Amino acid sequence: MDLGIKGKKVLVTAASKGLGKACAKAYANESTQVYIASRNKQQLEQAKKEIIKETGNHQVSSIVCDLTKAEDIKEMITRIGTIDILINNAGGPPAGKFDDFADEDWQHAFELLLMNIIRTVRAVTPGMKEQQFGRIVNITSSSMKQALDGLLLSNTFRPAIVGLSKSLSQELASDNILINSVGPGTMETDRIRDIFKQQASTESIEERLLKAGEQVPIGRIGQPDEFAKAILFLGSKANTYITGQTLIVDGGAMKTL
Ligand SMILES: NC(=O)c1ccc[n+]([C@@H]2O[C@H](COP(=O)([O-])OP(=O)(O)OC[C@H]3O[C@@H](n4cnc5c(N)ncnc54)[C@H](OP(=O)(O)O)[C@@H]3O)[C@@H](O)[C@H]2O)c1
Repeated sequence: MDLGIKGKKVLVTAASKGLGKACAKAYANESTQVYIASRNKQQLEQAKKEIIKETGNHQVSSIVCDLTKAEDIKEMITRIGTIDILINNAGGPPAGKFDDFADEDWQHAFELLLMNIIRTVRAVTPGMKEQQFGRIVNITSSSMKQALDGLLLSNTFRPAIVGLSKSLSQELASDNILINSVGPGTMETDRIRDIFKQQASTESIEERLLKAGEQVPIGRIGQPDEFAKAILFLGSKANTYITGQTLIVDGGAMKTL
């Protein structure tokens, strides 16, 4: 299938690792101009080198940006110019129950998960409207549809992203700007390993990853590149009629309709 995105400018936020990096790689494989952003410069440079080496695409740039800071987001978008495809990703919020969190934790999760998207969308849509083309895909979590045990911050803010995106899909469709949200189930990244490390167990992480996979109908947890394929299609010119939707990439784990 021709995705029709050769030469297009793609920004993937929170892309020095995990799902963001896998998405950036998928776009680099389609001969786009890829911008990756996150906080740690060294990690970003390493990711950039890896993407260039694995895809042979040298049009990969890195930008240091803390997505909880309005001025960082503004500077990043100004530096890139008009963006064709925006993939909104962010670091995951800490695990915990209601009594574990103070006002500052709520505020930080709000800035990281929700305000981040509001600010990037606000910054990219004028250019997208002018050129009458834009694709926006939010990386969220399966918690946008079904609450996850012990992940209260995620359970609160991910559904808000769905509401925001649905409203935006109504406002932006006439300018050929389509926006969708994709939630991973359990994908093998540092975040999942970190969450497993925090849980007391006598089993090794590898054993627990295998066990987690046994709970999934497909029989294993997912790999970041499998997740990236869904993002790549929704955030491409080949997607002409899907907007305001939510998609879960979880090997069939979630039973919600
Ligand atoms: N993996 C899964 O199975 C899974 C399941 C459900 C939901 N998710 C969600 O999917 C998203 C990506 O997960 P992942 O597994 O790929 O995580 P990951 O491997 O931990 O990577 C997180 C990325 O986010 C960046 N980041 C964190 N805070 C940032 C900030 N304030 N500003 C800019 N960049 C920031 C990190 O780079 P720096 O540290 O350099 O900033 C890193 O590149 C998260 O929101 C996570 O909650 C993942």
